[in-house]
Amino acid sequence: MLNVALPKGRLGEKVYGLFEKAGYECPSLLENSRKLIFENEEKGVRYFWVKPSDVAIYVERGAADIGVAGKDILLEYKPDVYELLDLKLGVCRMAVAAPKNFKDDPRKVLKVATKFKNIASDYYASLGRDIDVIHLNGSIEIAPILKLSDVIVDIVETGKTLKENDLEVMETVCPISARLIANKSAYKFNVEAIEILKERLGKLV
Ligand code: PRP
Repeated sequence: MLNVALPKGRLGEKVYGLFEKAGYECPSLLENSRKLIFENEEKGVRYFWVKPSDVAIYVERGAADIGVAGKDILLEYKPDVYELLDLKLGVCRMAVAAPKNFKDDPRKVLKVATKFKNIASDYYASLGRDIDVIHLNGSIEIAPILKLSDVIVDIVETGKTLKENDLEVMETVCPISARLIANKSAYKFNVEAIEILKERLGKLV
């Protein structure tokens, strides 16, 4: 039985659709809205719905053999897992955004509000720029409006949130999408089953 951690929510439903197409269906999964664990013994899969940002924790610690996590989470938390496949779902980008009239003064420490403090720190370290990272948990777009920060580092998908808050993208940090990940020892013990699954999913993306 392969234990699979899926990100709860809209992305997770798309991801499950892909697993279903690849031959790993579990019909009960879409019927019940409160239950979190579903299995199809015949197909050899057990699915768990977990918070998207927790998928990598379940996989890293072996509570799930495989899972699907956003590249943003993998870059931010650097879990010790194998990244097997880009599922090309949840495609967006990590970007620096600021108010439209913002002029960067390189002599000043840049104040950066973000949920992704490691991604932001790594990015500015690569540019040799000193920053003051302000770690927030959500509604990041408000920070520069209220002068809590100069810029934000956040996920941009359609750009609608930025536009509605009079912000614009200044730089793209990196592209983001959902990745199939595996626990390192589970991969070793189930290499055949996991490779077959990866191959079937790979043909669909
Ligand atoms: C993300 C991100 C932006 C928004 C960008 O938030 O933090 O706020 O999506 O999407 P857009 O470019 O299509 O407008 P999310 O919905 O994940 O919520 P959160 O901030 O609560 O994590």
